[in-house]
Parts: sequence; C-alpha cells; structure tokens
Amino acid sequence: MIITIDGPASAGKGTLAKKLADAMGYAYFDTGMVYRAVGLEMMLSGQDVEQESLAENFAKKLTFSKMISLSQKPEFRGPENGNNASKVAAYASVRAALLKMQQDFAQNPQLEDGSVAQGVIYDGRDTGTVVCPQADLKLFVTASSEVRAMRRHKEFLGKGLEISYEEVLRDVKSRDERDSGRAAAPLKPAADALIIDTSDLNAQEVFEKVSAIIADKN
Ligand code: DC
Repeated sequence: MIITIDGPASAGKGTLAKKLADAMGYAYFDTGMVYRAVGLEMMLSGQDVEQESLAENFAKKLTFSKMISLSQKPEFRGPENGNNASKVAAYASVRAALLKMQQDFAQNPQLEDGSVAQGVIYDGRDTGTVVCPQADLKLFVTASSEVRAMRRHKEFLGKGLEISYEEVLRDVKSRDERDSGRAAAPLKPAADALIIDTSDLNAQEVFEKVSAIIADKN
C-alpha cells in the first residue's frame, strides 16, 4: 500500500507520517529532504539559490545517500535552509531532476535496517499529485497558519534556535504564499485527497483519526 501525505509546512505531516510508518512497518520518505539537500549543498558551496540553472545542476547530481549525509548537518532543518528549499522547489527543472529518485523509492521500499517494507508513506507537497498519483490513500493534512507557526516556533526553541513567534509566523505565511502561487507544484490537495484539519487535534488524535480511516479501507 502507498500512502501520500501532502499539506503546508508544520501542519503535522511529518509527525503523522512517522507514526504511521512505525505502526504499520512501512518505509518513510520525507520528500522535503530532496529540496533541503539541494538548498544546503548550494549554500555550503557558496552558490546562489536564485540561479535556477545552478540549482538544476545540483539537483541532477543529488543521490539518495548524499541526501542522507547532508541531512545529518544541523543547518539542514534550520529556517535559512527552509527558505533555500522553498526557493529551489519552485523551479520546474529542479523538480523534474528530483522526481525519479522519489518515485524509485516505492519500487524497492526499505526500512532503515535494510529490510524490505510492505508499503510506503510519502510525506510532502505534490506526492499525491505528481510523485505517486497511483497511491492507495492520499491525505492532505492542514492547520491554520497561527497554529502551524506556534508548532514550528516550539520546535525551533527546542533545538536552541533563537527566533520570535512573529518571525516564524511571517515565514510560514510567506512560504505558503510562495508555495501556493508558484507554477510548479502549487500547494493544492489532489482531487481524490482526504482533507485532515489538525488545528484542534494533537498528534495522537490525528494518528488515531487516520488509523481509523486506514482500517476502514482494509
Ligand atoms: O517539509 P519541508 O519544510 O522540509 O519542505 C521544504 C520545502 O520544500 C518547502 O518549502 C516545501 C517544499 N517541498 C515541495 O515543494 N515538494 C515536496 N514534495 C516537499 C517539500
């Protein structure tokens, strides 16, 4: 079974995807990592993320293992690289260069210990529309921008990053605007996606709600 989870940043996609993958013994692909990897590699080598052709070259050379090793760096999940990722993700050429790597994952899904998984959970924008339109279940997980900014702020503070709530809210809104307005993979649910609003639910409640939906399907 292939499950895709799309939605805006900090709506709880990642938490839900990881909980489901653990509970079901499925492999997990956080697809935002491909854009974060390109953004971070460019930043570390002093390249300008505003240059689409440069970003495309980095995207073409990215491998799964290089992505995993870049993800170990502390800046990978930081706000600056979130912006880099959002910028490079807006280029159609970059998305095209990174598509096959994301699709290949479902052909041979593996758990972290190398064993074969029975299914895959894809987490990320466009996973239900472009990466895996054939998915068995498509979820669009969302929440208000204020609730998402509060969650992201807490996450940053937990990692020792000094940033105000107002700054995080501005960042969430500007990323939403950029991600919704762009021509390449705009932030939009697949026609056959189920919308899950997590504004008033905690992580466990979201997990239970979606687990019930999956049980119904089987
Ligand atoms: O989920 P995240 O914050 O790690 O994602 C980083 C950026 O990449 C974010 O701006 C959305 C974008 N992204 C995308 O365009 N398509 C995906 N499938 C996943 C993420």
